Amino acid sequence: MFDFDRVIERRGTHSAKWDMIAKLSGIEAPDALPMWVADMDFAAPPGVTEALMEEVKRATHGYYADTGSWASALVEWMQRRHRLTLDPGWVSQTPGIVSGLGLILQAITEPGDEVVVFPPAYHAFRKIILANDRRILDARLIETDGRYRMDLAALEARLSPRSKVVFYCNPHNPGGTVWTGDETRALAAFCASHDLILVSDEIHCDLLLGGAVHTPALAAAPDFADRIITCLAATKTFNLAGAHVGACVTPNAQLKDRLDRRIAAGGLSSYNSFGMIATEAAWRTGEAWLDALLVYLTGSRDLLEARLRQSIPGARPMPLDSTYLAWVDFSGTGLAPEDVAERVSRRARIFASPGDQFGPGGAGWLRLNFAMPRPLLEEALGRLGNAFSDVHNRTRIESPPTRARV
Ligand SMILES: Cc1ncc(COP(=O)(O)O)c(C=O)c1O
Repeated sequence: MFDFDRVIERRGTHSAKWDMIAKLSGIEAPDALPMWVADMDFAAPPGVTEALMEEVKRATHGYYADTGSWASALVEWMQRRHRLTLDPGWVSQTPGIVSGLGLILQAITEPGDEVVVFPPAYHAFRKIILANDRRILDARLIETDGRYRMDLAALEARLSPRSKVVFYCNPHNPGGTVWTGDETRALAAFCASHDLILVSDEIHCDLLLGGAVHTPALAAAPDFADRIITCLAATKTFNLAGAHVGACVTPNAQLKDRLDRRIAAGGLSSYNSFGMIATEAAWRTGEAWLDALLVYLTGSRDLLEARLRQSIPGARPMPLDSTYLAWVDFSGTGLAPEDVAERVSRRARIFASPGDQFGPGGAGWLRLNFAMPRPLLEEALGRLGNAFSDVHNRTRIESPPTRARV
């Protein structure tokens, strides 16, 4: 019903993923493949295209009237998909999640305050914290049994009176960790006992592989809801990142008011109509498309994990329960990180995200976006295998760790 195998030519279409390869990676080869930024090479759900076409055909593109239908569509989606009850009155729109994170920092912290992140973690967390003259407090994740875990005791020892906010990536990028309700609840309780605001970025919450189940922070810790801000969007789920619209959701009216003042101060209370139309249509019409996508992505994940293990001795993909971003440890290959980078970028002509971009714990890893039609994925996996075909390492990992289910 949905043709995820169809290869769509995206070069020369203002696609950051494809048209920025040479500039950002230095790979000039015309057949270079992008496996970096979190953007899929699939057509959006048909209902999105239809809604946008209607708008385009009408050809009047004036200011967008927010009638509340967008927030209702989000609330209904979260109820249907995640059994989470939200109130539309808790929703503040922002021009994307990262800008929402910046606005939250401006609303509730001062320059010099500390923001906790759990690295290796989404690199834009670091950037937006520093761009707002706040400081990063790294609470490095620990890897056990092929899965990340938080070490709250170690974090506790490092908190200071300037520690104000936690940026929690739920599910986690990179690594695809689907945090359990207990883990999220423990973090929320920790935040309550140390007077921290918990910002739960749940942009990947719909991208669940192989039947994994997401627990929203508000569902895991309803009694701490007053100190939770949840960031939600349709853009990652439905491949609409260029729409640049997201939501910050909090039942705490005081927090919401402070955030809304920052939104107003930035002149951001009026929304891009194309982004609003596309994302509302996605929530309202995209469910069957998403179900099919998740089956496809789960198959691609299994293919990638098996092929990398088989063709690159020592390469160790972290078992992925969420996202389409494989997180692969190359340290077992016995090759220097520069050698690995050279093989991937020059020999395989693949632009991957370097692990050190994600902060402490990322060195020696690469993040590989596999949300592409299978023919392209096959091509990429073949090239990667060839680029490492001369490597014969003792640390070959024969059997994968069992997929963590806790
Ligand atoms: C955890 C996380 N948050 C936010 C974003 C980006 O959100 P936006 O484009 O709405 O700023 C990404 C994109 O990859 C992400 O992985």
